[in-house]
Amino acid sequence: MIKFPANFMWGAATSAPQSEGYALSYGKSASTWDQWYQMAPEKFKKDQGPDSACDTYRLYSEDVANMTKIGMNSFRTSIAWTRLIPDGKHVNQVAVDYYRDYFSQLKAAGITPIINLFHFDMPWWLMEKGGWETRESVDAFAFYAKTAFELFGDLVDRWTTFNEPIVHIECGYLTGYHYPDIVDFKKAVQVGYHTLMAHTAAVAEFKKVKPDGQIGIILNITPAYAKSDAPADQVAKEKADLLLAKSFLDPTVLGKIPDALVELLAENDLLPVIEAADQQLIAANCVDFVGVNYYQPLRVQAPENPQVPAVTTDDLYLPYIWPERKINPYRGWEIYPEALYDVAMMMKDQYRNIPWYVSENGMGVADEERFMDDHGQIQDDYRIEFMTEHLEQLHRAIQDGSSCFGYHTWTFNDCWSWLNGYQNRYGFYRVDLDDNAKRTMKKSGEWFRQLSQNNGF
Ligand code: NOJ
Repeated sequence: MIKFPANFMWGAATSAPQSEGYALSYGKSASTWDQWYQMAPEKFKKDQGPDSACDTYRLYSEDVANMTKIGMNSFRTSIAWTRLIPDGKHVNQVAVDYYRDYFSQLKAAGITPIINLFHFDMPWWLMEKGGWETRESVDAFAFYAKTAFELFGDLVDRWTTFNEPIVHIECGYLTGYHYPDIVDFKKAVQVGYHTLMAHTAAVAEFKKVKPDGQIGIILNITPAYAKSDAPADQVAKEKADLLLAKSFLDPTVLGKIPDALVELLAENDLLPVIEAADQQLIAANCVDFVGVNYYQPLRVQAPENPQVPAVTTDDLYLPYIWPERKINPYRGWEIYPEALYDVAMMMKDQYRNIPWYVSENGMGVADEERFMDDHGQIQDDYRIEFMTEHLEQLHRAIQDGSSCFGYHTWTFNDCWSWLNGYQNRYGFYRVDLDDNAKRTMKKSGEWFRQLSQNNGF
């Protein structure tokens, strides 16, 4: 039998914009997602915007009871910045009451809340001024963070600043997939830098407001594997790791932006505008723990005719399809649990064996209703197999000394997923939007209950 360490955190994650609904009600102002949906609903799958989230704002008490049913002892969600401080200055008391009740109910049920501050939901009023492109965003975020720590610090001990910062940088400014939907490498780096400084400023506030608490950041790590041992492929791998993993891991855990990254940016005329005191601030505000979102690895090769200076990341490293790959047939992503072991050992060997947890891991499935049995339950054996394989690798890494303290899946309820709406479902509970957002436990929910009860399998 595989047993995990005592007090291991078993749970799941979601975010405010993907679960709450009521995107423009109860005093909430528009985030960039809410605004973009008003401007271009056709971009959103089946015309489903943020109001199609799974109704947690209304159903959170039922959700907490459902978490207990599947043995969750911890749960991550986020606060919506635009709900808490709609104009960036004044607190919305309705939001305070809502979040306080939600977090209190979690605690009363023995579920440790991990609360995140930013999950891709930039306020529209700030986006109009440039969003993360402007240094003003750093102060605005620090104010929001401080306010949240003061309002909820008595209920929440574990906090995180950002979820997957690479995503709003890459999707917003490099691949044209999220708003503002542009391709501009230089802006992307500046956006990334301001995000890092906003994170740093929030950690500094946390240390003042809640010195007894724990603060972290959630990073999506897609470890890069080179196509071959050829030096050019190896260099491509190094560059991918620098931009996608070390860019946030090094400054937040080790207190310094890697020299090799600064050189790479300088060579490509991509250095951001930096203020004199920044490095000192970064060094003084390291995190207490890291959350790692892991779904799939990144296979890379050297680009054939790269532009210098680089215009996109394709000029630095090129993704390729690994012939031996096993794929998720319902989503298309590669399944490679061994990479979770590699990430875990990287945290041990390169990041001072900092306490960390799997903050997301899971399997998205399109048209999941085809796996519904006669009693209306989704028989998601594929998800159980996926998670079991990843847990085996995680356990191996813990045996080898990695300081992992928990495993959270994405996600608890099927939820709204940005431009993809409900195309890929990930939850332990199926949500039926046509039936008042009714929740029905999937087979994996029962499996998870046993997993957490036995602290292993
Ligand atoms: C990462 C993100 O944190 C979340 O917003 C997203 O829906 C899931 N992964 C699934 O892709």
